[in-house]
Amino acid sequence: MEKTALEDLAREAMEASRQAYAPYSRFKVGAALLAEDGRVFTGCNVENASYGLTNCAERTAVFKAVSEGARRFTALAIAGGEGEVALPCGACRQVLAEFCPPEMPVRCVTLNGSGVRDFTLGELLPGVFRL
Ligand code: THU
Repeated sequence: MEKTALEDLAREAMEASRQAYAPYSRFKVGAALLAEDGRVFTGCNVENASYGLTNCAERTAVFKAVSEGARRFTALAIAGGEGEVALPCGACRQVLAEFCPPEMPVRCVTLNGSGVRDFTLGELLPGVFRL
């Protein structure tokens, strides 16, 4: 993966976080998922008054992508957090693992881009549940 591709994806995730609907937590998150065919699908967290119905930014991006016909992905960027980067929650890791290979790079950045941490999906979720 080219250095600039991940940087561009991180910028798209930062941009997507601006759409976050987070009136309850005030914690905005954005995600940008690169499909094998070159399309980028962005997502933000969408909260609900019934808190458990909240959808995370990462799952919003995956569901948008899959519903548009994309099935294979090559990189993900997530923007969230201020001092520390936000890491994807366990539910999102499992949903990502359904469609993304363990070697896929996952870049986590703070909302303003000053903090950066790089992982692979396999590092974030070893021992994926599969049927
Ligand atoms: N959130 C995400 O969007 N992605 C994650 O991986 C972790 C948490 C959102 C859900 C909720 O709207 C807010 O962050 C606080 O939990």
